[in-house]
Amino acid sequence: MQNSEPRLDFTPEIARAARGYYEKVAHVVPQIEWPVHAPTILAINALKRERNAVILAHNYMTPEIFHCVADFVGDSLQLAREAAKTDAKIIVQAGVHFMAETAKVLSPEKTVLIPDPDAGCSLAASITGADVRLLKQKYPGLPVVTYVNTSAEVKAESDVCCTSSNAAAVVEDIAREWGADTVVMIPDEFLAKNVAKQTAVKIIAWKGRCEVHERFTPADIRAYREASPGVVVLAHPECPPEVIAEADFAGSTSGMISYVGKHRPRRVVLVTECSMSDNVSVEYPDVEFVRPCNLCPHMKRITLPKILRSLETMSVEVTVDPAVAARARASVERMLAVGAPRRAAA
Ligand code: 13P
Ligand code: SF4
Repeated sequence: MQNSEPRLDFTPEIARAARGYYEKVAHVVPQIEWPVHAPTILAINALKRERNAVILAHNYMTPEIFHCVADFVGDSLQLAREAAKTDAKIIVQAGVHFMAETAKVLSPEKTVLIPDPDAGCSLAASITGADVRLLKQKYPGLPVVTYVNTSAEVKAESDVCCTSSNAAAVVEDIAREWGADTVVMIPDEFLAKNVAKQTAVKIIAWKGRCEVHERFTPADIRAYREASPGVVVLAHPECPPEVIAEADFAGSTSGMISYVGKHRPRRVVLVTECSMSDNVSVEYPDVEFVRPCNLCPHMKRITLPKILRSLETMSVEVTVDPAVAARARASVERMLAVGAPRRAAA
C-alpha cells in the first residue's frame, strides 16, 4: 500500500547533499515537504546510476520529480524520441501508461517500468483496437491518424500516430501520401477539431476527450483576463475549440514552454494541467504565472516513493505483445519520420 511506504531519514548529510536540488525548486516545493522528498530524491538518483536506468518525465510531473530525478523531460513527442534513442537498459516512465507502452514499442529490447500501472488516461480509455477496425470498415480508403494518447493495440490498427505538437503536419503528410482529402483522426474530438482549423484536409473525429482539458470554458478564459489584466493565455489543443479561440496561443506542453521562453510575457496563464506552471516557473522567475489549472489524477499517481520502489523492485514492467508492438512501432516510427527535422529546414 502506498501509505505504508517507509519514510527515509532526513539527516544533516542528506540535507547537505540535496541542497542543490532544493535551491532549484524552493519556490514551488513547500519547505515543510522537503525532509520527505530529499532522501527519496538521493536514493532514486543513486539507484538509477547503479542500474543504468533513465527516468523520462512528462511536463505534468510534479516539480520534485521533474527537476530533481528526471533525466529527460518533455512533451509526448520528445519523450517518444528520447525512448527511441537512449542507450540506457532500463527506462522508468514518469508519466502515464500509454507513454510507457510507447517507450516499450520503440525499445522492445529494454526494460520499461511504470511506477504505477493504474496511471491511465481518459483519451486512451475512450477507444479500443476493435473500434478502429470498425472505423476502417466504415471509412475504407481513408488513413487513420492516431493521437499517441492510446493503447499499443489501437496504435497497431492505425496508419500513423501524432502528438499535439505535430498533428497538423502528420495529417497533411499522410493525406498527401494516400492521395486522400479526408482522414480519420482518433481519439480526441477537440484536438481533431482544432487541427481541422489548421489544414484543408477534412477530418472525421472520434468522441474521446481529455478529462483535464475538456473542463476549461471560454468563460474561464475571459475571467482570467478580467482578474489579471494583460495576462497572456496559452492553451493546450486538447481544450474545446471555443477555448482555443479565446487564447493567444495554442500548443503542446513543450510548445507552451517554448512560447514562455521566447516571448517572456510579464504574466501568463497556462490553460492545462497544474504542474506545468510550477515546472516552468522554476526556469523563468521573472514571469508571473496566474494559476488556475486542472489536475490530472492519472499523472498525479506517479510519486517519488513509487519511482524509488519501481527501481528497487524492477516493477511494474510494461510488456506489449511482440506482434502488436511491431505494428504499433510502424505507426509511431512513421510519425517520427514526419515533423521536426524537415519542418526545421523549411
Ligand atoms: P503533450 O505533452 O504532448 O502536449 O501532451 C499533453 C498530455 O495531455 C499528455 O497526456
Ligand atoms: Fe490523459 Fe488528459 Fe491526463 Fe493527459 S492530461 S494523461 S490526456 S487525462
